Amino acid sequence: MAVATQLEILDLRHFSARQLRPLLETESRVWEQRLRWNYQSSTELLLQYLDSRILPGFVALDRGRICGFAFCVYEGQKAVVGDAFAIANDSAQMLQTTQILLHQLLQLLLNSPGIQRIESQLLLYDAGSINEPFLSAGFVMYPRLFMEYDLAAPTNSPQPADVTNLPSEVELLRWSADHYQPAAELIHECYLGHIDAQINDQYCSLHGSLRFLHNIVRFPGCGVFEPNASWVLRDRHTGSILGMLLCSRVAADVAHITQLCITPAWRGHGLGRALLNHCSHRLARAGFSAITLTVTESNNQAVKLYESRGFFSRHRFDAMVFDKTNSQT
Ligand SMILES: CC(C)(COP(=O)(O)OP(=O)(O)OC[C@H]1O[C@@H](n2cnc3c(N)ncnc32)[C@H](O)[C@@H]1OP(=O)(O)O)[C@@H](O)C(=O)NCCC(=O)NCCS
Repeated sequence: MAVATQLEILDLRHFSARQLRPLLETESRVWEQRLRWNYQSSTELLLQYLDSRILPGFVALDRGRICGFAFCVYEGQKAVVGDAFAIANDSAQMLQTTQILLHQLLQLLLNSPGIQRIESQLLLYDAGSINEPFLSAGFVMYPRLFMEYDLAAPTNSPQPADVTNLPSEVELLRWSADHYQPAAELIHECYLGHIDAQINDQYCSLHGSLRFLHNIVRFPGCGVFEPNASWVLRDRHTGSILGMLLCSRVAADVAHITQLCITPAWRGHGLGRALLNHCSHRLARAGFSAITLTVTESNNQAVKLYESRGFFSRHRFDAMVFDKTNSQT
C-alpha cells in the first residue's frame, strides 16, 4: 500500500502523445508476448486521439514519471473502458496501479449523469486480477476465454474443407460490402437472448449490430479485417444469409475470428463447423500459423465447437458490465 501514496493521478488530457508513447510501446510489446497480437496500429490510432486531447481518462505518475494510464470512450449513454495499463518493478505493484487508475475512471463515469451503462473487456488481465474496482462499484462479471488454434502444430493439420458437404440449398460466398445489412440482421437475430448481448449491448439492436460490423471491418481495434478469410453462407432459394465467419489479421501470421454465428433455424447442422474448417484450411494455405478468438466461458455450444476443432484456452479474462437500469431495480 505504501506504493499507492507515492502515486499522483492526473487528467489524461494534460498529456501529449509524445509523453505517452514510451508507455504505449511497452504495452504493445506485452500484447505481442501474451496474446500474439501486434498492437502497433491500435497504438498509433490511440496516439492520434491522445494528441487531440479529447479522451476522458487518467495518468499515473510515480515521482514525476508516467507509469500508467486508463481511458474510456463514450458511445451515447454508454461508456466503454478503452484501456488500462501500468508499468512497475513487480506485477503486484503493476496491478495495484492499474486498479487505482480504474477506480478513478469508474468513479468519474458513475458520477456522470448521462452515462447509463459501462462495459469493459481488458484482455491483457487474468480473470480476477483487476476485479476489485469493478465489483465494489456493482459491476456484473462474465468470464471469457482467449482461445488459440495452432495451425503449424503437426497434430493440427487443417481439417478438410468440408464446405463441399454443405446442404444443397446452402452456398458459400466470400464477404463483400453488399452483405452489411443482411449480416447485421443475422447478428441481431443470432444474439437475441444470448449471454453475449448482456456483455455487448450493440448486439441488442439492429443499429448496434451494424455499428459492430462497421467497427470490425473498418477500424483496426480488432485487427485488420481480412476480406479473403471472411465468409457468409446463403440460402440459394431465398437469398437470406444463414451464417457467417469474419476474420481479421492481428499479426503477420496470426488471424483472429471476430464473429461466427449461424441463424437459429440452421443450428446443429454442421454449418458452424464447416465455416471454421474452411477458414482454418484457407488460413493455413495462406501461411498463417495461428488463429485466435474470444468466447464467453458459459457459451457451451461455441466452446464445445472450438475445443472439438483443436482450439485451446490460452488465457481467461473478465468482461465487466454496469447497467444503471439493472442496478436500480
Ligand atoms: C456456436 C454456433 C456458431 C455453432 O454453430 P452450429 O452450426 O450450430 O454448430 P455445428 O452444427 O457445426 O456443431 C459443431 C459442434 O458444435 C458443438 N455444438 C453445436 N451445437 C451444440 C449444442 N446445442 N450443444 C452442445 N454442443 C453443440 C458440438 O461440438 C458440435 O459437434 P457435433 O455435432 O459433432 O456434436 C451457433 O450455435 C451460434 O451461432 N450461436 C450463437 C452465436 C455464438 O455464440 N457465436 C459464437 C461466439 S464466440
